[in-house]
Amino acid sequence: MGWTNSYSILFKLLELGLVLVVHLSDSSSRIEADEVDKVLLRHQLKAYWMCRLNVTQYAKGNDTCPPEFDGWGCWEATPAGQVAKIECPSFGSLAEDKNFVTRTCQTGGKWATSGTDGKYDGDYFRCQLKEMSANHKKILENLLREMDDIKTSPYAVSESAQEFERCINDVLSNPGPTDKLYCPGTFDGWSCWNATSAGDVVYVPCPVFVTGFHPGRYAHKVCEEDGSWFLHPETNKTWSNYTTCIDKDDLSFRDKINKIYIAGYSISVIALSVSLVIFFYFRSMKCTRITIHKNLFVSFIINNILWIVWYTEVIRYPEVLFSNKIACQVLHVLVHYFLLSNYMWMFCEGLYLHTLLVIAFVAEDKIMKWFYILGWGSPIIVITCYAGIRSSYPEDTVFCWIEESRFTWILSGPVCIFMLLNFIFLINIVRVLVTKLRAVNSPDTHQTRKAVRATLILIPLLGLHYIITPFRPEPGSPEEAVYEPISAAVASFQGLCVSLLFCFFNGEVIALIKKKWQQTFTTWGNDTNRNYAVTTMSTMPTTPSHHDREDTTAV
Ligand SMILES: *[C@@H]1O[C@H](CO)[C@@H](O)[C@H](O)[C@H]1NC(C)=O
Ligand SMILES: *[C@@H]1O[C@H](CO)[C@@H](O)[C@H](O)[C@H]1NC(C)=O
Ligand SMILES: *[C@@H]1O[C@H](CO)[C@@H](O)[C@H](O)[C@H]1NC(C)=O
Repeated sequence: MGWTNSYSILFKLLELGLVLVVHLSDSSSRIEADEVDKVLLRHQLKAYWMCRLNVTQYAKGNDTCPPEFDGWGCWEATPAGQVAKIECPSFGSLAEDKNFVTRTCQTGGKWATSGTDGKYDGDYFRCQLKEMSANHKKILENLLREMDDIKTSPYAVSESAQEFERCINDVLSNPGPTDKLYCPGTFDGWSCWNATSAGDVVYVPCPVFVTGFHPGRYAHKVCEEDGSWFLHPETNKTWSNYTTCIDKDDLSFRDKINKIYIAGYSISVIALSVSLVIFFYFRSMKCTRITIHKNLFVSFIINNILWIVWYTEVIRYPEVLFSNKIACQVLHVLVHYFLLSNYMWMFCEGLYLHTLLVIAFVAEDKIMKWFYILGWGSPIIVITCYAGIRSSYPEDTVFCWIEESRFTWILSGPVCIFMLLNFIFLINIVRVLVTKLRAVNSPDTHQTRKAVRATLILIPLLGLHYIITPFRPEPGSPEEAVYEPISAAVASFQGLCVSLLFCFFNGEVIALIKKKWQQTFTTWGNDTNRNYAVTTMSTMPTTPSHHDREDTTAV
């Protein structure tokens, strides 16, 4: 169902103009850097990104100093009149002891400055910082300004982090040509762009780590005649053209697939809810099998609603994926908890039928306790392991966990095992039915057979998604046009199939609804009969777990 949802939503980024990137505002005055300490620069840029990732609280009101990375330390938003205090930067400090640096926020929300250029000095003297050349300072200052408008951290994805570090070493810290006008080398969050002569167009391979980008295609960036990178007319910010990396047809294809999911899940939720109401309304059907159905339906309904939220609120909006809010990550975990419990309740259905037919004697209330533990309890253990392990690897938690991770097996492993067990149970049930019941043809065994048949149809149906997953075609291949819609329909209409087979096609339910319908009809037709009709309903014999027992005794 959801494990393989690698949706290529990032396409939309391009249209939204989120790939906008800024570069040096005074590009022509790019400095010659002969003595750049590349290691220091790398540390500083990394520290900048860590600062941006961790210090997210922005200053509110005029009287607060904004969060800032000054080249050495990360300063949190601080109210005016207060003194902020941080440790010396480990990468730049030569001091033996652990020292602290302080900085005062002045009235009006301005950080106090000291030193000649008002930057990088603070009261860092205690730290005995490494010497930075004037050129290094300028390069750093320019780069930090450049980084400011990149939306995602290059450290969010390991491939992009590698590219960024390579870029710092090979491009950003090196001088451009001296004899002509050129656009300076730059990093836009995804790719590293070489310094380029004015009037030229530079090409880079599309980054492979961006979902939906076709490897083998090229992105380009235009260096204008005046030696500045092309500005996007809508935003006035520099812009790398990645639109060539994606396929517009592909984008609308993904959109259609998402619509299938939303439609399928919505229909399933409606069908399941109606079924649940029916089960609760007709109290005469109170028995273990129906209780299991109810739990299965509840887990289906919650899971499908969460999928609808996912498809309508999350993957349609790249900003949501990028900001990677905690709520969005929790949604991923919850969806998969209820998905697991779904499969566990399906397992309980099979287990119950098996116990009933093969083992014959069942302590109904005791077995129900075990089903609750299996159906709602065991998924908690699995999901806790999964969320715990996966959340401890930052590169596995980007984009609301949308990408498949190397820990996905923690979820899919147990599901496959229990599906297999369920299948074995059902084969055994069929064996018992065929050998023992061939001669018997009472209505009760007929009913049991129907229950078995419903479950028998459902198990492979629910497993189908796992059966076809290994055959998932490469993105962009022609087979995908067949595979994806089928996969979407199989996943999203499962709830509908379950409610049809367990409720709407259930002979008992049909009979009860018919009876109720006739009663209501009679009541309307003859007013004096009203009391009689109501009494009939309420005095109808209710026999908890009666039906199943009857089935077994008939066996
Ligand atoms: C950037 O420049 C270096 C050295 O001049 C060269 O080896 C590399 O291929 C260039 N990269 C691109 C993408 O043009
Ligand atoms: C972009 O800059 C130009 C000139 O500086 C200005 O005329 C134009 O209004 C700006 N556009 C936007 C969207 O800011
Ligand atoms: C990006 O490149 C494509 C293909 O060359 C071109 O059609 C499109 O106009 C470019 N976009 C912008 C904003 O220049």
